[in-house]
This record gives sequence, structure tokens and C-alpha cells, in this order.
Amino acid sequence: MTMPPMMRVLAGERVSPPPLWLMRQAGRYLPEYRAVRAQAKDFIDFCFSPDLAVEVTLQPLRRYALSASIVFADILLLPHVAGQEVRFEPGVGPVMDPIASRADVDALDFDQAADGLSPVYETLERVRAALDPNVTLIGFAGSPWTVATYMIGGGKDPNRWAARVAAYRDPEFVDTLLTRLADATAAYLIRQVAAGAQVLKLFDSWAESLPEPLFDRVIIEPTRRIVDAVRAAGVDVPIIGFPRGAGLLAAKYAKRTGVTALALDMTNASQEFLATLPDGFPVQGGFDPALLCAGGPQIGGEVERLLAITADRPYIFNLGHGVTPDVDPATVAALVDTVNGHG
Ligand code: CP3
Repeated sequence: MTMPPMMRVLAGERVSPPPLWLMRQAGRYLPEYRAVRAQAKDFIDFCFSPDLAVEVTLQPLRRYALSASIVFADILLLPHVAGQEVRFEPGVGPVMDPIASRADVDALDFDQAADGLSPVYETLERVRAALDPNVTLIGFAGSPWTVATYMIGGGKDPNRWAARVAAYRDPEFVDTLLTRLADATAAYLIRQVAAGAQVLKLFDSWAESLPEPLFDRVIIEPTRRIVDAVRAAGVDVPIIGFPRGAGLLAAKYAKRTGVTALALDMTNASQEFLATLPDGFPVQGGFDPALLCAGGPQIGGEVERLLAITADRPYIFNLGHGVTPDVDPATVAALVDTVNGHG
């Protein structure tokens, strides 16, 4: 029995054509997603309804020949079940009452958070049972810093200003929050693997704009803590790390955190950056979501460029960030055909 292509790449093999999935492959650009979404009371309720979450997880797999499925959930479910309520406001995004002190952190219940996320485990079990054996099921969580930026900033906070200022002004508050988030996240990820996740992904969407000492402290250390805790529990599935916007610091992240693979964004999908990674270190992503939105003949050239710069290492095709709501599903089909037709 051969391993599915995505698992082969994460085990260190170059596979051609590359395995392919898309960040936010389930979402508002699909009319069938919008139809299911309309049935739910609100976004949190939607994520916590396995009937609906299983359906939208599988939708992109029915349209496109993808190598992986990512469970439909959200990185902000964890603070929500810990006691900091999250509301998703149409046209605004996530909104929460901000936390501002060590006392606010102590008032949250991180110990029970992994239990409170049990609908996600049910979704994973049911999706795994429905998937083709060659399609890999991905579980995920937000990385502590990114989740903390929402918890401290209250949602909309350009440049993640509130969290960055707090990290300097009140290190005890921020470091305690990051440690508790890391431990609860590790417990959550371990339970996702028990429910059928074969790969884990850590989204650090706000790893940008940090000076190196802060990057070490709020990105590398908490990520390392999660990876260590997952491994200490005997869970050996591959872990993909996505420090979005980290630029050159992403190489340090790849070397120091213990992640298996690095997800690239547009700032580091370059030959110059890849030369700074260890030989054979698996990478994923890098395709510009704006080009997916624009469509047209430039798509083929960018696919060629990404395959050329990653030619000497294991590579999983993906975007450098998520599919946006304004994308035409037919353009996604064209991209998938272009990638799958390669090699
Ligand atoms: O298909 C998939 O990729 C799986 C589902 C998934 C969602 N969120 C569903 C979602 C994943 C992996 C996430 C992760 C997530 N959530 C991240 C990290 C990845 C990234 O985009 O950087 C972040 C930062 C969040 C927090 C979040 N959730 C924001 C900022 C928003 C609002 C922005 C928006 O696009 O509206 C959400 C809501 C959300 N999560 C939607 C979806 C499909 C859209 C909400 C809706 O359908 O009404």
C-alpha cells in the first residue's frame, strides 16, 4: 500500500505533480457553501454543528481533484470555549471583548477548552469516514500569538497594535496568555489526531512586523512548546507551520520550532529565501490569492515559477494565504487542472 501523495511529501519525498490543496478551500466563493451557511444561526453555531461542518468540508473535494481536506472550524473557537465570547459580524469579522491583564487571563478556563471543542472531533471522524483513502485529512489550530492578537485587540486591530504594545508593557500578562494557549492548543491538536486528523497545521497569520527578539519570544517559543507537547504525547503526525509575513525569519522558525514543514506566503516564496532552509525541508504554498482572483494566463507562469524554485525539495502546492470570497470557482478549477497536469 503506497502512502497518499501529501503524506509522501511530508515524509521528505519530492512528488510530481505535487499534491495540492488550498487554504480556505471551503468558503464564501462557493455558492453551495453560502447555501449551507444560511442555515446556521451564527458562525460559531455553524462550526459547532457537525452536520453542516462535514458538508462544507467535503464541498471543495466534490468539485476539484484535491489531495487534502481541512476540517471546517476556526482558530477563534478555542478562546470562545475558554470563556471569551467571539461574535462574527458580517462585513467586519471576529469581534470580542478585549482582555487586558493577567487577572483577565486567570478568569478564563483553558483547562476544559479541549473538551469544549468536541463537535470538531465529531466532524473529523465523519469527514475521515467519507473521504477517499488517498485524500489526507488536516486538523488545525491558531498559533498562540495570532489567537492572542484577537483576544487582546478585540478583533479589528490594524497592525495588531494592542498585542504588540502589551507584549512590551506587560510581559507577564502576555507570556502567561501565550503559555496557556500553547498548552490548550496542544491538547486540542492531540484530540484532533485521535479523531482522524493525519496532518496538523498551525496558523500564525499575524507573525508579521515583529523584531527578532519579539519573534523569538511570541512566535518561536510558544510554537516549540506546542510541538514538544504533541510529540511528548506520542503523536507523530506531520505538523505544518505557517508564520505568515515572517519573511526571512521563517527560516529560523523552520529550524527551531520542530515543525515538519513550512507554509510559505508571498514574502518568502523565492529562491533566495529557500536557499536559507535546511536541504530537503518540505515546503507548501506561496501562490498569490490575488492572482487567483484576477484569473487569466499569468496563472500558468506563476505555477511554473513555484515548481521551479522548489524543484530540489518536497513541495505541496497551495496559496500563500486563503481563497477570497470574490474568486470565481471556475478559476480555481483552472488552477487545479494546471497543477495536476504538471510533470
Ligand atoms: O477551508 C478552510 O480553510 C477551513 C476553514 C477555516 C476557517 N478559518 C473558516 C472560516 C480555517 C482554516 C480558518 C482559520 C482562520 N480563522 C485563520 C487563519 C488563516 C488565515 O486566514 O489567516 C484566521 C486568522 C481566522 C480568524 C477569522 N475567521 C477571521 C479573521 C474571519 C473573518 C474574515 C472573513 O474572511 O470573513 C473568520 C471567519 C471565517 N472562518 C470564515 C470562514 C469560511 C468566513 C465567515 C463566514 O462564512 O461568514
